Amino acid sequence: MNIEPSLPECRALVLFGATGDLAKRMLWPSLYALDCDGLLPVIFQLIGAATSQLSQQDFIAKVKESIQTSANKQLYNDVAFERFSKRIQYVPVDIKADHGLEPLRAVLAPAGDHKPEGGVIFYLSTGPQLFGPICLALREIGIVDKLSRIVVEKPIGTNTDTARITNDAIGAAFDEGQIFRIDHYLGKEAVQNLVALRFANSIFEPLWNANAIEQVQITVAETVGVDGRWPFYDSTGALRDMVQSHLLQLLCLVAMEPPASFTPSAVRNEKVKVLWSLRPITGADVVTQTVRGQYSAGFCGGKAVVGYRDETGAGANATSDTETFIAIRAEIDNWRWAGVPFYLRTGKRLQDRMSEIVIQFRPAPHNIFADIGATLAPNTLLIKLQPDEKITLTLMHKKPDVNETRLGEVGLNLSVDEIFGQTRRRIAYERMLLDVLRGNSALFVRRDEVEASWKWIDGIIDGWRTSGYQAKSYSAGSWGPTAAIALTERHGHSWHE
Ligand code: BG6
Repeated sequence: MNIEPSLPECRALVLFGATGDLAKRMLWPSLYALDCDGLLPVIFQLIGAATSQLSQQDFIAKVKESIQTSANKQLYNDVAFERFSKRIQYVPVDIKADHGLEPLRAVLAPAGDHKPEGGVIFYLSTGPQLFGPICLALREIGIVDKLSRIVVEKPIGTNTDTARITNDAIGAAFDEGQIFRIDHYLGKEAVQNLVALRFANSIFEPLWNANAIEQVQITVAETVGVDGRWPFYDSTGALRDMVQSHLLQLLCLVAMEPPASFTPSAVRNEKVKVLWSLRPITGADVVTQTVRGQYSAGFCGGKAVVGYRDETGAGANATSDTETFIAIRAEIDNWRWAGVPFYLRTGKRLQDRMSEIVIQFRPAPHNIFADIGATLAPNTLLIKLQPDEKITLTLMHKKPDVNETRLGEVGLNLSVDEIFGQTRRRIAYERMLLDVLRGNSALFVRRDEVEASWKWIDGIIDGWRTSGYQAKSYSAGSWGPTAAIALTERHGHSWHE
């Protein structure tokens, strides 16, 4: 039974940072696609808010260009865009100026007797330092009410304390039920399918624990470098940028107990319990349980690339020790997972772009084929999230042969592209925006999850500081520092590559 309070339909979305990079690459193209599919409310205004003094016409031209150059460009046509553009209004705002959000009030709450009905979504696609000031200003000009929703992007803070301050600032204007913290990994189809795989099938659950599972690996490997984001990235690093959010969310979905239903509280209650159960990695333990790396010059995708310290924007910081790679051996101290290592790994300028989860089961307890020289490989469930979506279960199989019994590993493959090939691949933000519109926060991160994950991350960062743990160099185009191999091999495990 769905017992979550639900929010009614909205009348408008205000996009702060409307001319920014995320808005251009993801948000406008996603809103356009939802409109093409008839998934936006009939009366639904899209208000672009940013500091530039742009005319309405120039702004619409920018939105048009962003759609035409996006992953959804094949959806573009003049008629559909003409209809979409009628929803859009550009409102210049300046959060740093006194009364800088007044122009918004004039649009959303015009003077006079007619009071528009329905909630407004405020989407903050801005730097996190603006979350607090924008929320405060929205409250002060009186355009926040019980029907409003607020959407914020990661990072929420840079550690537990700053996350609390940011959450408090947002919470001063909005109730928790009105706050949608985006982790775009939760909007990916393959990530949602992980929940379906675990909880819509009965065959996995009896095996989904320390009795049957030997180790779990979660890898999010990227071939891109810091992509012109040096100043942000250098003060952030891979642990804060990727592990605190995306990798820990994936870990939660793999490790959580079955929720009673697919409702926001039920799912998020189970996820946060996993975060609370993560064994802290602190002090000198960081040296054996984590590996930090930073890429040096090398070859990626067949082309020569510079090292992190020589990236554009590095300037005088050429001695930076920020990690662009991180591998962690994590453990979850609860009944289900006691003793099972969860190896997490992410990095930039690695050999391949791929995200995957590998569940390796324990070996068969006795090999009845040993006398004929057969070795048995443990069964593995491989869940590929990107670039292709695929689930493979490896089994030992007899090779057809009348003369002798020979065994080999065979994969049972389920390729999402082959089965559902005709279905258009969605940008993760399409699903996230639709959920905000429908008031469904199951795929958004709750305050306690953010703070619990920061607490674990803070322990590691503190351990690096006190033990003086420097990032190890790895060549761009490799799989990270060799120490990352030792992290698993020491325990008799190998990375899946
Ligand atoms: C973002 C990080 O959250 O996720 C980026 O800030 C990273 O550094 C990106 O490149 C990866 O997302 P995706 O969807 O391309 O795997």
